[in-house]
Order: sequence, then C-alpha cells, then structure tokens
Amino acid sequence: MPKSHYQSIACIYDILDYPFEILRYQQIRRLVFEGLTGHLIDVGVGTGRNIRFYPRNTQVIGIDNSINMLRHAVRRKKYAKNNLSLVEMDAQELGFNDKSFDFAVLTFICCTMDPEHQMAVLNEVYRILKPGGKVLILDYTYSSAIIRRLIMKIWAPWVNFAYGARFDRKVNKELISRIGFRNINLEYVYSDSIILTKAEK
Ligand SMILES: C[S@@+](CC[C@H](N)C(=O)[O-])C[C@H]1O[C@@H](n2cnc3c(N)ncnc32)[C@H](O)[C@@H]1O
Repeated sequence: MPKSHYQSIACIYDILDYPFEILRYQQIRRLVFEGLTGHLIDVGVGTGRNIRFYPRNTQVIGIDNSINMLRHAVRRKKYAKNNLSLVEMDAQELGFNDKSFDFAVLTFICCTMDPEHQMAVLNEVYRILKPGGKVLILDYTYSSAIIRRLIMKIWAPWVNFAYGARFDRKVNKELISRIGFRNINLEYVYSDSIILTKAEK
C-alpha cells in the first residue's frame, strides 16, 4: 500500500474505525500486549490505538511511514504508562541494530501489504529481534462461516478502498517459517475472522 493512502485518510481513520475499535479491537489489543516485557517495536503504529495497552515495564518504539497517522499517535502518547518513542520510518528498512528488540507487534498492517512487502517487512523484523524474541501479528482472515464470510465479501471492496486492506492477506505460516521463525502459533481472537499469529526467532 503506498504511503500516500494513509497520508490522505489519517484525518478520518479513527472515525471510520471507531465502532470496531469499541466493540471489537480494544479487548483484542489488551490480549496482544498481555505479559510483554522489555524492548518492543510497534510496526505500523498508525494513530496509536495500541498505546494505552503497552505494559508499564516496557520500552516501546512505534514506527510508521505516514507522518499524518503518527501525528494522531503523538496526541495519544499521554495515555502511555510506559516509555514510548514514535518515529517516522519505513518498516521495510528498519533503522535499528540487529538483535535489539524482545518483541515486535504488527496489528492490522500485514493485510495492507502484498506478500512481497510482507516478506520484506518480516525479514527486517526477524533481523532486529533478539534470539528468542517474538513477533505478534494481528490480522483479518476470511471466516469459514457462510453468513460471516458473505458479509466480509460484501464489505471487502469498501475495506480495500478505505484502508487499502484485504481480508485474504493474512501472513501465512509458510512465509514466516521461510524467514526463519519457529514455534509458530495461530489463534483466533475474534470468531474465526481475526487471527493472532505468534512466532519466535
Ligand atoms: C490499518 S493501519 C493499522 C494501524 C495500527 N497498527 C492499528 O492497529 O490501529 C496500518 C498502518 O500501517 C502503516 N504502514 C503500512 N505500510 C507501512 C510501511 N511499509 N512502513 C511503516 N508503516 C506502514 C500505515 O501507514 C498505517 O498507519
């Protein structure tokens, strides 16, 4: 997804997402960050919806390549209970040393990228994680339930137009293991349509 897309929708992103954030995402975000410690990177931090869920005993760097999305995240910084920095950066070229993070979190970003970009980003994530460090990826996937799947199919053109995202772009296990990740665990966290992938370096 070209960065210009998020540059243009940044001003309405939180409004578009508000109902889902309240009814669905907040509980899931809490779950994603539960128990994380040490140095974390939030890749594609967006408007900072994860900020209030960063655990106290962490140092987080949130990166995004859209400065307009980041401006909203900066306003949310006041809700952080931890040490937080926000930096404009492309996830395909992370400006950090090898083996510098304990955890990398990617929420709803992989579904905005084609597999080639996912690969580039996850290679970078792998590089900057410490041995034994973990990646946590949250993404949509098509439900296998007929009605829910149909609703998602109807909704898909809007999701693509508004967010540049697709429901069929969840990171797959094969791609992650090709990069070198192991102990890959996939868990549905909202019906069978939002999936949390965890893997270890
Ligand atoms: C759907 S939003 C999700 C934002 C946030 N993670 C959340 O859970 O609300 C996707 C974000 O990923 C960012 N993004 C997409 N590609 C990126 C890249 N190559 N480097 C950095 N950020 C990127 C976009 O600018 C956008 O802010």
